[in-house]
Amino acid sequence: MLVLDLGGQYSQLIARRIREARVYSELVSHRATAEEIRRRNPVALILSGGPASVYTDGAPHVDPEIFELGVPTLGICYGMHLMAHDLPGGRVDRGAGEFGKAEVRFGGALGRDLAQDQTVWMSHRDSVVEPPEGARVTASSPSTPVAAFEDDRRRLYAIQFHPEVAHTPNGQQVLKNFLYGIAGAAPSWTPAAVIEEQVERVRARVGRGRVLCGLSGGVDSAVAALLVHKAVGDQLTCVFVDHGLLRKDEAKQVVETFSNFGVKLVHVEAQERFIGKLAGISEPEDKRKRIGEEFIRVFEDEARKLGDVQYLVQGTLYSDVIESGGTDGVAETIKSHHNVGGLPADMKLKLVEPLRLLFKDEVRRVGEELGMPERMVWRQPFPGPGLAIRIIGDVTQERLETLREADAILQEEVRRAGLYRELWQSFCVLPAIRSVGVQGDSRTYGYPIVIRAVTSDDAMTADWARLPYDLVEIVSSRIVNEIPAVNRVVLDVTSKPPATIEWE
Ligand code: XMP
Repeated sequence: MLVLDLGGQYSQLIARRIREARVYSELVSHRATAEEIRRRNPVALILSGGPASVYTDGAPHVDPEIFELGVPTLGICYGMHLMAHDLPGGRVDRGAGEFGKAEVRFGGALGRDLAQDQTVWMSHRDSVVEPPEGARVTASSPSTPVAAFEDDRRRLYAIQFHPEVAHTPNGQQVLKNFLYGIAGAAPSWTPAAVIEEQVERVRARVGRGRVLCGLSGGVDSAVAALLVHKAVGDQLTCVFVDHGLLRKDEAKQVVETFSNFGVKLVHVEAQERFIGKLAGISEPEDKRKRIGEEFIRVFEDEARKLGDVQYLVQGTLYSDVIESGGTDGVAETIKSHHNVGGLPADMKLKLVEPLRLLFKDEVRRVGEELGMPERMVWRQPFPGPGLAIRIIGDVTQERLETLREADAILQEEVRRAGLYRELWQSFCVLPAIRSVGVQGDSRTYGYPIVIRAVTSDDAMTADWARLPYDLVEIVSSRIVNEIPAVNRVVLDVTSKPPATIEWE
């Protein structure tokens, strides 16, 4: 099913919600012509919302022939306005609009199996005042008399409110009514189906070629590698550059997991090289640059040793594809990526991107289906430069060990409290300053450890997590008791903005 993107902030969310209903959906430009859409043969179409008014110059429009395709089409918010504007008999007026929660009286095919009175989320200035000829009004609120319309004959449907946001409690049911009830779509987009399809695609692309994959320890590169391994087995070699800046036991987990799956893995123990490059460096961007460069160098060395390789796996996600404007599904540009490192320019590797059509939550479900351990599948995001950017000041072996131990205690307790998956990230930071303390009868002069825990949807903004005080107490007392170099624990209570999630 195709979502025509009219510039709404929720367009991506609509595509995700459709997939949560197990129907494969893609976001496409609103400029797609009726002919292009017909060729894709979608089971249904959605016209997304958008910030424009149909009356402003330069507002996005769709090819009106789309409404003649006979494909079930749902217009949401601005998409609804376009339908009423473009189809005979319909009328859109500028008005005061309606913002926030609203109560609607709701019926029709979209409201099937739902109570007549529904709470929904509205966010619009213009309103439809006359539905197109042949359509009947199926929802209304006191300030929006035409809150939905339906034309069963032409298979056109429209709603003013946003079914995709959590503030519309039964929104997912409305989308399901459209998908299953109206469009007759089958809920067949499952992790097993994704795996089967991607395995076929990878085989077709790679043939008998040799494939290289850089592992970071994160979920994306791991799932991508396992998918490719399922497709081409020993034609794949993974290279895991261990820069010594990972969390406790992470490197071990990667090596164990991949050896359990029988994947050919080169584990490069490059800890010394990285710590050497970081000696005396305290400026954050300088650290990042050095780590990035060293990563590429180590990765190149290993790739060369492997000899003739033609393909490189990259864990590009659908959200990256959308953000780089490549919704045509063919773009194959190589992004510089903190986690995977670069590739030798003279090797001219072709890319294999088995996650290119998947959102992050789908990658996790595919990982689970492939049998990846729970710990790896649900890992919180972790920056490529690792613990180096969580030590404020020079990175030394001693500070790395201190931070790694403190972080392990926090992780353990957060998991024990059942909060690990609820938090976007939870970690420790070591500012390399010292403060005075007292332990037993003696004065200490030790490091502080900062606890940083945030909730977020996408890392663009974040709120500091209200960790239970009991948990904070356990973590604090364990850290100062178990790690001699630390005599103080503090909690970061800043949101993003104005702070960032990381300290560097
Ligand atoms: P900030 O600190 O900017 O971080 O709020 C936003 C998200 O990005 C992660 N992050 C990085 N990831 N390489 C990465 O791969 C980096 O250099 C890097 N810096 C920050 C951070 O953990 C958070 O999830």
